[in-house]
Amino acid sequence: MQQSTSLHVAIIMDGNGRWATRRGLPRPAGHRAGAAAVRRVVEAAPGLGIGQLTLFAFSADNWRRPPREVAYLMRLFARHLRTEAAELTRTGVRLEVIGRRDRLAPVLVAAIAAAERATAGGTRLRLRLAVDYSGRAAIRAGALLPDVDLLIRTGGEQRLSDFLLWEAAYAELYFTDRMWPDVGAADLAAAVQAFHARERRFGGLPEAAAG
Ligand code: IPE
Ligand code: IPE
Ligand code: MG
Repeated sequence: MQQSTSLHVAIIMDGNGRWATRRGLPRPAGHRAGAAAVRRVVEAAPGLGIGQLTLFAFSADNWRRPPREVAYLMRLFARHLRTEAAELTRTGVRLEVIGRRDRLAPVLVAAIAAAERATAGGTRLRLRLAVDYSGRAAIRAGALLPDVDLLIRTGGEQRLSDFLLWEAAYAELYFTDRMWPDVGAADLAAAVQAFHARERRFGGLPEAAAG
């Protein structure tokens, strides 16, 4: 089977809140644990043949959540961008944040710009974090990414929730009931393995039938 050397994997990181609630913890504890899962997945990605990893962290519709939760998430993003930038640089990860910036706090915008600048030379993995992102808005603005090969959603729901609508046109979809904070390298490996077992036809015929 042809193994693509540089996959574009996108992940809808869902289930932080339920993970926390099931443990009798406040939802922010789930978001904090979710940030640790991001680190595990980013570390594992290059070894699995992933060249681009696009993570859905905050949707344009997530502003509808209680202001306290939104504020917590925004602080978490800013803090992690500051603390992770050096490690990302060391490991050759180039970070970009996609989505609207005009509704983000200036401190967060500054942290994003600093992290992007610090990691700009990375060539091992192209990591995109979608914050205040809407797939529909991206299409309207022509802000399109390369096609997605594999789209993963954790947390048990089977929907796109306005993520990479255009780019996922021929993506293989992979849904798992695992909550995002429980995800680790083995889960990412299982998803990539499932991807390689799929037959992508892009509207054509299976290899065996094509003659
Ligand atoms: C995903 O987890 C993270 C964000 C959307 C910010 P959720 O916060 O949606 O967790 P659930 O779906 O409520 O469990
Ligand atoms: C999608 O999750 C957005 C992110 C994971 C960032 P949501 O939890 O917001 O999606 P819905 O509300 O279940 O569709
Ligand atoms: Mg959710």
